[in-house]
Amino acid sequence: MRTVRIHAFGGPEVLRAEETPVPSPGPGQVLIAVEAVGVGFAQTQMRRDAFPAPMWRPSFPIVLGGDVVGTVAALGAGVTGLGEGDRVGAFTLHGAYAEYVAVDADTVLPVPAGMDAATATALPGSGPIAMGVLATAALRPGESVLVHAAAGGIGHLAVQAARAAGAGRIIATAGSAAKLDFVRELGADVLVDYSRDDWPDRVREATGGQGVDIVLDSVGGEGLRTGIGLLAPFGRLVFYGSSAGGRALPAVSPMELIGMRSLTCFALGQWRTSRRRTYLDHHDTLVRHLTDGTVRHAVHAALPLEEAAKAHETVESRAHTGRVVLLTGRTG
Ligand SMILES: NC(=O)c1ccc[n+]([C@@H]2O[C@H](COP(=O)([O-])OP(=O)(O)OC[C@H]3O[C@@H](n4cnc5c(N)ncnc54)[C@H](OP(=O)(O)O)[C@@H]3O)[C@@H](O)[C@H]2O)c1
Repeated sequence: MRTVRIHAFGGPEVLRAEETPVPSPGPGQVLIAVEAVGVGFAQTQMRRDAFPAPMWRPSFPIVLGGDVVGTVAALGAGVTGLGEGDRVGAFTLHGAYAEYVAVDADTVLPVPAGMDAATATALPGSGPIAMGVLATAALRPGESVLVHAAAGGIGHLAVQAARAAGAGRIIATAGSAAKLDFVRELGADVLVDYSRDDWPDRVREATGGQGVDIVLDSVGGEGLRTGIGLLAPFGRLVFYGSSAGGRALPAVSPMELIGMRSLTCFALGQWRTSRRRTYLDHHDTLVRHLTDGTVRHAVHAALPLEEAAKAHETVESRAHTGRVVLLTGRTG
């Protein structure tokens, strides 16, 4: 099968198109014939050995993971409730940049037959994360939400999910005017260019000096502590990525939280396992939202699998709005 592997950490050029054997699904796994893979910023961190989370322990050669959409091609021993030909999606840390990937059957979600594969890459990871961080923050109707990196793959879904869930004022940050225009069209109320030093003042102004109820932070770095300082009393910051900081994470003192503020975190793997019912409910809601247009999954670029290096360059250029997707050429 066609696959893209890396044999050493480095720049996008380490992503090499190669022929490899089709994997066999192990016990409890399914083999997915891949149509599309969503390329996340996290995979660019993995490729250059800057991924901050401890759950990823690769050995070379590495096939990167991602948001996979395809059809079930084979079942491993003991798998029930799924059949060959079922259209499915799965978020996986390994093996996604390929024509076939074996994943644990209990991580697989149904994908509607008619849904465009690139659109459907929102279903396994990005969408559940966007909805999961809001649920982790326990968003109540009318509360204000600050979404960092709001034009990104997850961020643009979080803006729309917050609107759909009844958020009050949505404050969106991004690093360029073009990205902020994009986020405005998706329903954000206040647009803040956080590449400017005075961005926290803009957030304070937007909340009449009260502070914001919820901060969704996928960027980390020193901005995380700034975000804590921007919380209203009883405000919650959910940290779920370190796009700026990589492995350099800021030390936060409990004294920064003493004004009735909370810092919490989100990880999809734990969420998917420990909050399974909510995760599945969110999936149903997201399918409905994508189908009726409440939520739009913006596909910035859809490239052939072999152009994975170009996909990574695009994501690392920070010029993308929405998700960059790789296509194998197979259709569902
Ligand atoms: N917790 C979980 O379970 C989980 C799972 C998957 C991914 N994630 C994380 O979620 C975050 C968003 O993922 P995504 O794929 O949707 O990425 P993305 O938002 O499409 O891309 C990352 C964005 O971060 C912003 N950014 C700010 N400072 C940056 C810096 N120093 N270098 C590079 N980018 C910077 C950029 O937007 P601007 O140009 O607008 O600043 C950039 O486009 C990532 O941190 C990822 O690791 C978390």
